Formats: sequence, structure tokens, C-alpha cells
Amino acid sequence: MLRECSFEEVYFQNFQYFEAIDQMKEIKEQFIPFHSADLGEEEAQAAADVIRSKWLTMGPKTIDFEQRFASYVGAKHAIGVSSCTAALHLALEAIGLKQGDEVLVPTTTFTATAEVVAYFKAKPVLVDVDVESLCIDLEDAERRITAQTRAIVPVHFAGQPCDMDAIHDLASRRELRVIEDAAHSLPASYKGARVGALSELTAFSFYATKTLTTGEGGMVTTDNEDLAIRMRMMRLHGIGRDAWKRYSAEGSWYYEVMDPGYKYNLTDIQSAIGIVQLGKCDQMNAARREISSRYTERFLKERALEVPTVRADRDSSWHLYVLRLNLDELKITRSQMIEELRARGVSTSVHFIPLHMHPYYQKAYGYQEGEFPVATEQYHRYLSLPIFPQMTSMQVDYVIDSVLDIVAINRR
Ligand SMILES: Cc1ncc(COP(=O)(O)O)c(C=O)c1O
Repeated sequence: MLRECSFEEVYFQNFQYFEAIDQMKEIKEQFIPFHSADLGEEEAQAAADVIRSKWLTMGPKTIDFEQRFASYVGAKHAIGVSSCTAALHLALEAIGLKQGDEVLVPTTTFTATAEVVAYFKAKPVLVDVDVESLCIDLEDAERRITAQTRAIVPVHFAGQPCDMDAIHDLASRRELRVIEDAAHSLPASYKGARVGALSELTAFSFYATKTLTTGEGGMVTTDNEDLAIRMRMMRLHGIGRDAWKRYSAEGSWYYEVMDPGYKYNLTDIQSAIGIVQLGKCDQMNAARREISSRYTERFLKERALEVPTVRADRDSSWHLYVLRLNLDELKITRSQMIEELRARGVSTSVHFIPLHMHPYYQKAYGYQEGEFPVATEQYHRYLSLPIFPQMTSMQVDYVIDSVLDIVAINRR
């Protein structure tokens, strides 16, 4: 039997109910994603146009995107591929990497940078990072060079270009090929030249969270025609040039397989989105720069925090805003900071768990934490704050206030 409730009880229960709803609404409103892609009607229209054209896979849009991309970064050739991982793999294949070779890779990166080396049964030789930029430490890299070392893959961490003059100097002295992992660094520049036009080979990512996105996708740039021809062929099954045209009016049914290639091509749907995104690239970068300078301006004065810096001779894409904690000033760890921010509706991430801390790299190559003191120590201090072009001024302020509030409460 139902018990009758007094007016006061009903009122109180409803009051609690509405209060809970208000709290939920507040949390939802305050929820700040780590990333949100800057995609709109234009991209939707471009993708829809390709669907209506019925040419869905690699075709005229991909060629158009490749040409625009090459001219944007200042490279002779740009080859559209399905991911940055594919781009790095094709680049290593094009330079003729073989079983038993070694490739220098910073330990503070995503596994893709090193896993592609393992595809060849070659060894990814992990290298410690520079404490300021978190890019590859070239003194440590040089110490790790052996007679088997063939290449170096610098990662432009968070979007700031590495010290490319020093990398090219090391590469030419020790006869190494340079393949830049530019997954984070579109658009970025070093001494006035865009990343993509600095080295023999550069690999970009258009993954969903990147500064230009096609959902999944990538591009590899080079000025070397032979490498470009090889990569174009190997991205599509090792079939001779322009095989994708074989289903078009001007195409032919005849093709030749020259090598066992890969299925790494970019589609026209992705490329159509990429063309629109490329047109907004500078504008999206300006928005990121604005957010990063607002973060830095407020965090700079707080001694429990260390802000990211960009050297005077380069421009960052600001793909990530990596804040470091001065842990001896705080009663909480980096992980607790992340939890506190999450409780306030701010989503963050960590870039990266260094490769030498992962079971695969430890088991396969015997790497240990003590071998990479800088990367290991810095890993415990950093977190990546939300940064995306459409982030509102209120959201930026909310993130700043949340970080500073947590610091104030947890000061040692
Ligand atoms: C430094 C770095 N390299 C390579 C990749 C791989 O990119 P993709 O997902 O396009 O293969 C990533 C992805 O996050 C990355 O951060």
C-alpha cells in the first residue's frame, strides 16, 4: 500500500531532485573535452559531393589534396596515405630499411614511430629526450649510433619543430637518413621554412585529434622523385603508376605488380574533407596559438607549474599544450591532478607514456627505466590540457581557474 507523503516530504524530495538535475546540468555544461575537431558544413558538403559523384576511393580529389598540401608546406611531392603510421612505414621502405638495421627514435612518442621499424625486423633504438622541448636528445642519439644505424626519426613533440640544423648535421656526419615524424606539426616552421620541406622525408597524421583531420589519414612529403615514385607504388599494392585509374574512362584494365605493396591509399571522401581543412589550417592554428598564450600568461606566475616554451627561431602548431607540474611544490601527483580536473569536468590526457616503459619494448629489446632518466622523470610531471580551435573563451578560463584552484588547495 502506498504511504501518503506530507507536503513537506514531497517538497523536500522534489527539491533534492531538482538540485541533482541542476548539478548534472552544471557538470555537463562545464564538461570540457580534451579535443573537438573543427569540422562544419563545408566539410560535410565536400564529403557529400564526393558521395554524389560516386568516385569514393582514391581519385581526383586525392590528387588535388596532394598538390595543395605539397604547395602549402613547400615540398615537391606529397603522397596521400591512410595514416601517419602508413606514411612512416612507406618512408622506411623507400629508403630500403632491412632486417637487422637500427633506427633512432625518441622514447617520448607514440608507439607508431617505433613499431614501423619493428615491421622490418629492424631495431628501434630508443633515445632519451631534451628536458626543455621533450624532442630527441641528440647527444644521447649520437652515443647510441652503431654500424647498423641507418636513420633517425625525430618527432616534433606537441608541434614544436626539433632542432633540425643539429639533426641534419648529425645525419650527414654519421650517414643517417632523416625521416621526420610530423604527426603533431602541421602547420609548424623552423627558421622560416615549413615542416614538410626540411628533410628528405616527412610523415603527417590526419587522425581525428590532429590539427588537420580527415578522420583517419596521413601524408608523406619529399623532394626526391625516386622516393615519391616508390611510395606511390607501394601505397597501392606495389602496382605500377596510376593503377587507381583502371576503373575510370581514361584508365586501362592492364596493370603490373612490381612488388608486394600495401593498401595504404587515402580516399576521395577523406581528401575532400582534407582540402577544406587545409584551407582553414592557418585560421585553426591562430586559434590554438591564442589559447596557448592565454594558458601560458596565467600559468607562468604559478611556481608549482612549468609552461611549455617555443624557441624564437620556430613556430609550433600547438597540437598539444603540455603543462608540467613542479611536484615538490604540490601534495598531489600528476595522476591525482588529472582526477581532480576530471571531477571538475575538464578532460585531459598524457603524451606520452615513454616507449621504454611499455611491456613490448622492455621484453623485445630489454630497455629499462634507468636508461632514459629525462624521459622517465618528465613523464611523471606532465599532462596535456584541452586545446582545440573552437574552444570558447569561457572554456579556456574555466580550465585555467580549475588548474589554479587545484594547485592552491594542494600546495605543499
Ligand atoms: C608522434 C606520433 N607519431 C605517429 C602517430 C600515428 O599517427 P596515425 O594515427 O595517423 O597513424 C601518432 C598518433 O597519435 C603520433 O602521436
